[in-house]
Amino acid sequence: MGTKGREIVGMDADRVIELLNKAFADEWLAYYQYWLGAKIVAGPMKDAVIAELMQHAADELRHADMLSTRIIQLGGTPLTTPQRWFEATNCGYDEPADPYVVKILEQNIKGEQCAISAYHALLEEVGMRDPVTYNMAVQILQDEVEHEEDLQALLEDLQMMRQR
Ligand SMILES: [Fe+2]
Ligand SMILES: [Fe+2]
Repeated sequence: MGTKGREIVGMDADRVIELLNKAFADEWLAYYQYWLGAKIVAGPMKDAVIAELMQHAADELRHADMLSTRIIQLGGTPLTTPQRWFEATNCGYDEPADPYVVKILEQNIKGEQCAISAYHALLEEVGMRDPVTYNMAVQILQDEVEHEEDLQALLEDLQMMRQR
């Protein structure tokens, strides 16, 4: 823990840690959902979808890393078991039970939209009372907004192809 770094947080630092751990759980679950989706996805344009999902999975893992670093800086502990991811998560885990490319894209778009809402809510709550957390959450939010658009663009291409 960085003592001065924690002291300057102008709100309950334990609440910030709780918010960060909820996001940490979301990132691991999203990582696995996208990673697995990339392995099993089937149907038209699957190569383009696989490339995108693998890139997103790597981004979600990087986000989990950023969050764990910040949790530790604040004197917290990143959730120590996958069971606790399910207790803490905002966005849950959407099992890719149907490998059809449209289904996978729709599930993952829903995941990105939940992530956007969750980081937006975190930013609203923390604000400039913790500028370090704020700055990190902005960086992650930028990626999630990009992810949503990437997946929606793929789905639009797919729908265009099916209609013509
Ligand atoms: Fe993420
Ligand atoms: Fe994402």
